[in-house]
Amino acid sequence: MKDILEQLEQRREAARMGGGQARIDAQHGRGKLTARERVDLLLDEGSFEEFDMFVTHRCTDFGMEDQKPAGDGVVTGWGTINGRLVYLFSQDFTVFGGSLSETHAQKICKIMDMAIQNGAPVIGINDSGGARIQEGVASLAGYAEVFQRNIEASGVIPQISVIMGPCAGGAVYSPAMTDFIFMVKDSSYMFVTGPDVVKTVTNEVVTAEELGGATTHTRKSSVADAAFENDVEALAEVRRLVDLLPANNRQKPPVRPFFDDPNRFEPSLDTLVPANANTPYDMKELILKLGDEGDFYEIQAEFAKNIITGFIRIEGRTVGVVANQPMVLAGCLDIDSSRKAARFVRFCDAFEIPILTLVDVPGFLPGTGQEFGGVIKHGAKLLFAYGEATVPMVTVITRKAYGGAYDVMASKHLRSDFNYAWPTAEVAVMGAKGATEIIHRKDLNDPEKIAKHTKDYEDRFANPFVAAERGFIDEVIQPRSTRKRVARAFASLRNKKVQTPWKKHDNIPL
Ligand code: HXC
Repeated sequence: MKDILEQLEQRREAARMGGGQARIDAQHGRGKLTARERVDLLLDEGSFEEFDMFVTHRCTDFGMEDQKPAGDGVVTGWGTINGRLVYLFSQDFTVFGGSLSETHAQKICKIMDMAIQNGAPVIGINDSGGARIQEGVASLAGYAEVFQRNIEASGVIPQISVIMGPCAGGAVYSPAMTDFIFMVKDSSYMFVTGPDVVKTVTNEVVTAEELGGATTHTRKSSVADAAFENDVEALAEVRRLVDLLPANNRQKPPVRPFFDDPNRFEPSLDTLVPANANTPYDMKELILKLGDEGDFYEIQAEFAKNIITGFIRIEGRTVGVVANQPMVLAGCLDIDSSRKAARFVRFCDAFEIPILTLVDVPGFLPGTGQEFGGVIKHGAKLLFAYGEATVPMVTVITRKAYGGAYDVMASKHLRSDFNYAWPTAEVAVMGAKGATEIIHRKDLNDPEKIAKHTKDYEDRFANPFVAAERGFIDEVIQPRSTRKRVARAFASLRNKKVQTPWKKHDNIPL
């Protein structure tokens, strides 16, 4: 018996060594942790239970029958993050470059199936040279099996991808279909075709980092949601994110203890909006003052900064925030900001996360670049996302809510539940100057008359009361009391239920 126990320990020890000490040292030399070190950091101490540690590949070509490392290049299993169940896989670059074989894929599929069945998030740590070249089409089939599960799991359990090394070719499409992608600066990259192919086909010379590094994907392509300095920071942030999310689409997000009075007044908010309607201010200040303990988990902070998306907690409960940012492009909506916010709204709606929308929007960004790029279709994504959302929705208009953008930003007409406005709000078709120049075109050469018309328009429309008179604004509130009003509104909506007509699925403008 003792021998058998020792044998088990020896086999486990061999599996834990992956591709051997030299390759582990090389991994550390690149500033990267090993697959197992990453699992240990991600999960609560001692909570990891491994699956399929002894699985080996079945390939017999190219001398592969003589190299059969236990585990086949991916560590899979389950554990807890702050006591809550998660499933995960972590690709081991020290074993055939973390490449995906038929059996490697089967291991990933097994834990994805369990995550879907048992209603818990799945986290994928990607560090792989792609399809296992020696296995050919069997490896491609393995990828497709993973893709199919990503699609099935979408909207059922949260899926988080962490890119911690190469992720190239068709392999990118598994993370691409998950809810969040995190990358590590300087050690991870994602692209469909690498720099060599790009050079051959288009003559462009580009490094892997420029083509698909963390900066590129968080600032230019928006493929990734956040970039971190190193593996340790990235994994700590995944833990923070998981804490905010429900385990699945039939549960509410966890309620955490909070030490911040929901009735807290913030007198400084009374002067947040500057006297001059064209002077910007930082919408993040409002977000930080509304959330419990000033904590804000921002998503896509580096992309389309004219809109802010992320999570706060109010009374310990997760709330998704979408907010125009007057500091960037005056907070207007454009292609990028509409896409960014639409995806976020849909995530919140899929996972029962209430949505708080903070509005200061002068309209859609004009220009050929926007029209040729399809701002009609992309703007419609955000409109559609809000209009189909059935989670509790609270909207606060701080200043401008002009034109179509007023409608889009969770207006009453899109079934938002509470629509508040600050006294500084201006709900109108457009700004006073633009409106005057159109309806009093004949007086354009008379500055005095134009000034008077502009003043008249401001007096009539540059306020929240015209909308409030019609019930489009439920209440004009004191800025200082916003946290209290929003907290009470969400508390009253905890049992919200909305019936929608049967359909197979919608046809959101993609
Ligand atoms: C088998 C692989 C491998 C692969 C790397 N290795 N990629 N083995 N299949 N795809 C092995 C290497 O042989 C090497 O083994 C070890 O992993 C480390 O690789 P190195 O090249 O030494 O490391 P590095 O210099 O860091 O370069 C990493 C790399 C490079 C950039 C990922 O290995 C590379 O370009 N690999 C091939 C990438 C590729 O073309 N993959 C297929 C893409 S198509 P030893 O024994 O020396 O340690 C694809 C399609 C998916 O993925 C389709 C889904 C629909």
